[in-house]
Amino acid sequence: MKEIIRTFKEQFGGNGEPQPFFAPGRVNLIGEHTDYNGGHVFPCALSVGTYAAARKREDQKLRMYSMNFPELGIIEADIDDLKYEDQDDWANYPKGVVEMFTKEGYDVPSGVDLVFYGNIPNGAGLSSSASIELVTSVVLKELFSLSIDRVEMVRLSQRAENEFVGVNCGIMDQFAIGMGKKDHALLLDCQTLDYRYTPINLDSETLIIANTNKRRGLADSKYNERRVQCEEALKDLQQTLDIQSLGDVSKQEFEENKHLIQDPEARKRAKHAIFENCRTIEAVEKLNQGDIEGFGKLMNESHRSLRDDYEVTGKELDALVEAAWEEGAVGSRMTGAGFGGCTISIVKREDTDRFKEKVGEKYYQETGLEADFYVVEIGDGAKKLEEE
Ligand code: GLA
Repeated sequence: MKEIIRTFKEQFGGNGEPQPFFAPGRVNLIGEHTDYNGGHVFPCALSVGTYAAARKREDQKLRMYSMNFPELGIIEADIDDLKYEDQDDWANYPKGVVEMFTKEGYDVPSGVDLVFYGNIPNGAGLSSSASIELVTSVVLKELFSLSIDRVEMVRLSQRAENEFVGVNCGIMDQFAIGMGKKDHALLLDCQTLDYRYTPINLDSETLIIANTNKRRGLADSKYNERRVQCEEALKDLQQTLDIQSLGDVSKQEFEENKHLIQDPEARKRAKHAIFENCRTIEAVEKLNQGDIEGFGKLMNESHRSLRDDYEVTGKELDALVEAAWEEGAVGSRMTGAGFGGCTISIVKREDTDRFKEKVGEKYYQETGLEADFYVVEIGDGAKKLEEE
């Protein structure tokens, strides 16, 4: 943080101390592509994330600088005239959040100077964008003493992504990052937004993220295509079932009514969404009973379903997960949107080093790519940091 404050003073001069903020990244343990289907997810916040230093201005300008993209310099925008601009790159996220706050009637009476620094691996699917959105939300709340609750900040951050940036994501990432709690994962019902914290105190296992280091090309368009297919399946099922979302459908109801879904591909997508939702609830029950093996098996099933029915894995994610299975992981699956990005595995603690080495080797042989491994530390949600 000291380095960030120093950069802040270098970029914006020394009139008054900036205040320090942080928002984490997230990893989802199970419940993939269920959020926009009204199902359950089970993510946790990470200890890595986005730091920000922020100070009010006298005028209406937002001036934003990222230490991760120094070549882009200070990006400037007027809070009365915020528009998505390609060349503003990452700065469209904070701009979008300010726009949603003012649109919703929260008074942002002046501009802000902001410096960001993130230590989430870039493009890894660990939600660096939602992290920037939430840190900006906390900055606005604190600098302007806004009376806004956490869930509302989460919703506005998601809207920034949907309406301003134009990515049609669900609510999982923003919720995990806004509401996360150290050493806990969060079981969220994405239809009602009811949620419950579950302690993750693995004594003899660790959680390991492995990054495929495969760029997620075309991910957004394929993501949107999956959403459309699920909506189609929902409409077909609504002919006989009284349901609001695929999250309302039981496995048995799906089996009895699946013939109603016209398009065979849409039928497969719906099957994943419905079974994955049930799997997530079941997995959290297992965890609560201390049955880590049972939880791990459901993670493996989740991956197979994402591979075969939802078709969002691809060669790299499959290679990493298969290597993890061969090397004795308790459970392993892709995490996040898919098409590249990361996997999450539960591994016996004493096995961690051997696991990384062997899985890394096998992955390299299969794909010619080097994987990166990170041991998960579960941190708190977005917050203002204590001033030094
Ligand atoms: C991305 C989206 C989330 C969620 C996941 C898939 O991370 O941002 O809303 O849909 O993909 O589970």
